[in-house]
Amino acid sequence: MTMKKKIKRIGVFTSGGDAPGMNAAVRAVVRTGIYHGLQVYGIYHGYQGMITGEIKKLEKKDVANILHRGGTMLKTSRSMEFMTPAGRKRAYAQLKKHKIDACIAIGGNGTFTGGLVFEGEYDIPFIGVPGTIDNDIFGTDYTIGYDTAINTAVEAIDRIRDTADSHNRLFFIEVMGRHAGYIALNTGIGSGAVYTFLPETKNEIEDLVKFLENAHRRNKLFNLVIIAEGNKTGNAMKISKKIKKINDKFDSRVTIIGHLQRGGSPSAMDRVLASRFGYAAVNALIEGEKNKAVGLFDGNILLTPFDQAINKTKSIDPDLVRMAEILAM
Ligand code: F6P
Repeated sequence: MTMKKKIKRIGVFTSGGDAPGMNAAVRAVVRTGIYHGLQVYGIYHGYQGMITGEIKKLEKKDVANILHRGGTMLKTSRSMEFMTPAGRKRAYAQLKKHKIDACIAIGGNGTFTGGLVFEGEYDIPFIGVPGTIDNDIFGTDYTIGYDTAINTAVEAIDRIRDTADSHNRLFFIEVMGRHAGYIALNTGIGSGAVYTFLPETKNEIEDLVKFLENAHRRNKLFNLVIIAEGNKTGNAMKISKKIKKINDKFDSRVTIIGHLQRGGSPSAMDRVLASRFGYAAVNALIEGEKNKAVGLFDGNILLTPFDQAINKTKSIDPDLVRMAEILAM
């Protein structure tokens, strides 16, 4: 049973790496909050702005014309100070000063961890909204920004494919994903990569060389290899050098897609997902929920306790890894 505490003023902020669709979530929070008679305050620059008091009331019009924009109008940060008790004490004082009695935190694992620790020390309910291109949060099939990020990566790789084909080249393409291979795996499937290095799997360089040599014998002369930044074998440059050492016949190039994946206008899927999450987060706070993250599971909104969302791993589907291998033959 959840205790209902009358909430009048809520704060909303974005934190950690930005993700396309965060603005759509902010818009949904502000408008759903106002619809329910709440006052909604934007906290700028994430937890850091909470500490320094960068807090401003948001009206309906303040979130007009942002639905389709990448980045976050509330700005973001990775605050080291909030990790200290003294930082959190200052943040609490600012929330009290602005009479904010509940918060909606849009971000990833680090953001939810901050919320969990803060709630353990102070009486301010938090609801989390999963916003990260990595899609690595337990309790939701998708996170805000992931769909846009893989579409951006696939579009970029289609262009690389053209030039790889023209020159019969081997390309090593590095995509984001420090701890999870969702971006790499699905970008690889979507762009027809022959091999994908994931943080979750064991990859043998020798296997890849054999595969490439076989491909050449079959006259498959251009090949795309996707590398998740967090894989254990090394980054794209290192892997390309290792392969050259074993067989220097391949004409290879390296492309790092990097932060290109984090920007740009959110896809329709991300806009809808973010709107649903923002709406659900406000309703959850009104219902007296706290310490939980909203998520989408089998098409429905559900709430997952922060400690599970943070500590449980959303594993990639091994059959999808197998399928990617089979289709690359
Ligand atoms: O968590 C999102 C993410 O984009 C990761 O994929 C990446 O490793 C990281 O953020 C990069 O962070 P920064 O922009 O701080 O370098």
